Amino acid sequence: MRVKAEFLDSFESYLRENLPSVEGFHPHFSKAYQEIILAGGKRFRPLLLLSVVHTCAPSLMKNAYPVALGLEMLHTYSLIHDDLPAMDDADLRRGETTLHVAYDEVTAILVGDALNTDAFCQISQAPLSAETRIELVQALAQNGGSGGMVIGQAIDCEFEDKRLSQKELEFLHTNKTARLIAASLLMGAIICDLDAKSRDNIYSFGLKLGLLFQIQDDIIDATSSAEAEGKPTGNDEHKNSFVNLLGLEEAIQYKEDFIKSLNDELNTLDKKLADELDHIVKEYFNG
Ligand code: IPE
Ligand code: IPE
Ligand code: MG
Ligand code: MG
Ligand code: MG
Repeated sequence: MRVKAEFLDSFESYLRENLPSVEGFHPHFSKAYQEIILAGGKRFRPLLLLSVVHTCAPSLMKNAYPVALGLEMLHTYSLIHDDLPAMDDADLRRGETTLHVAYDEVTAILVGDALNTDAFCQISQAPLSAETRIELVQALAQNGGSGGMVIGQAIDCEFEDKRLSQKELEFLHTNKTARLIAASLLMGAIICDLDAKSRDNIYSFGLKLGLLFQIQDDIIDATSSAEAEGKPTGNDEHKNSFVNLLGLEEAIQYKEDFIKSLNDELNTLDKKLADELDHIVKEYFNG
């Protein structure tokens, strides 16, 4: 389910007009490169980044679009690689056949590599000051690379069928999912040039929001259908998912408690921003 926001429609048009294509005589690389991004998805990370800008520096919305596009490109690369046979071996993503099935593994690996690298090019070309662009590149690299998403994915795969403690499980999911979600908010704060304390507070809130996001994703895997989600469900059997650790009922309860506990973090934020983010939580997580 996509959270409704007028600026997200406008960002979607921007994305469709500005998504890079790939030069050369390869028969399908450019099509594959664009396919999974154009297939849609919730655009949750761009939503977070743009919500901060919309609230704190609305005149910079258009300047933020290339940054949000770069963020979505990096996220999409992570999904393409996540679906590879060596990882989750999934044949459906965003309602489309995954790239390694529609084409081949080489295409899926290299499209992922290209989106990962090109994401930083997008950000480096945004109409923002050089200092801001460096901070943005750093925030995305620190949270999407070996200090975030990548180490999370590595632990996720390494520890299939090996039970982790709740603490280890939180480390896994914080890195795999929460850091990129926290970075989305932080990148919004960087564009708005918010002070260091505000950035820390928004990042801390983002880490909790990101964990909540993965709890919900694990519940979706256990309770929803491939038709509804556009990706295979019932796929987490061997995973250290919240549902496998806690059981479904307890995971649902954990999610509800988690939503309540977000209020403490929200209270550390500027009131207008807190209201905007609270609205997103309510709409997306039925909180
Ligand atoms: C899926 O991300 C991977 C996780 C971190 C759980 P999303 O659920 O945001 O996927 P899209 O972007 O909507 O397709
Ligand atoms: C993947 O988590 C998170 C990423 C960093 C891509 P999942 O494996 O649970 O994501 P889905 O359920 O396939 O979307
Ligand atoms: Mg996975
Ligand atoms: Mg997966
Ligand atoms: Mg999942």
